[in-house]
Amino acid sequence: MTNDTTLLQLTYISRICANVSEQQIALIHQQAERNNARLQITGLLLMTDRYFMQLLEGDSAIVKSKFAKIAQDSRHQEVRLVSERLVQQRQFPDWHMGLKRMLDQDEHQDLAAVINLYGQQQQFSTQHADAISLLFRSI
Ligand SMILES: Cc1cc2nc3c(=O)[nH]c(=O)nc-3n(C[C@H](O)[C@H](O)[C@H](O)COP(=O)(O)O)c2cc1C
Repeated sequence: MTNDTTLLQLTYISRICANVSEQQIALIHQQAERNNARLQITGLLLMTDRYFMQLLEGDSAIVKSKFAKIAQDSRHQEVRLVSERLVQQRQFPDWHMGLKRMLDQDEHQDLAAVINLYGQQQQFSTQHADAISLLFRSI
C-alpha cells in the first residue's frame, strides 16, 4: 500500500458482550478483513477474555466512518476511544485486520493484564494513549 499521505490511526477499547461465541468472533474477523481490504484500512484487533482493543489506520474520513459503524455493533459495548493520531506510515501495512487473542495463561499474559486494566477505564489520558501505542509496537 503506497502513496499514504496523511493517515489516521485510531484506537478504541470495548467490552465483549457476554453471549458472543467463538463463531461470532470468526465472523467479525472475516467481515473486517473483507471490508477493510476494500476500504484500504489496516490494523489489529486484540482480545482478552473480556475486552476488545482495536487499532484502525487509513484515510481519515474512512476510518472515522468505519469506527462510527463499529461503535454501534451489538457484539460489544462500552466502546471508548483511546487515541486518534495522524501518522505518516502505517504500523500494520500487511494486515487488513490481524486478530490476536491474549489470554491470561499464554505468552501474552502481560499484555492481557494491561488490556484488562485499561478496559476498566472510562477515559484515557495522553499517557494511557502513549502506553497503548507502545503495547501495539511490542506485538
Ligand atoms: C470488535 C469489532 C471489530 C470490528 N472491526 C471491523 C473492521 O475492522 N472493519 C469492518 O468493516 N467491520 C468491523 N466490524 C463489524 C462492523 O461493526 C460492522 O458490522 C460492519 O462494518 C458492517 O459493514 P457491512 O454492513 O458493510 O458489511 C467489527 C465489529 C466488532 C464487534
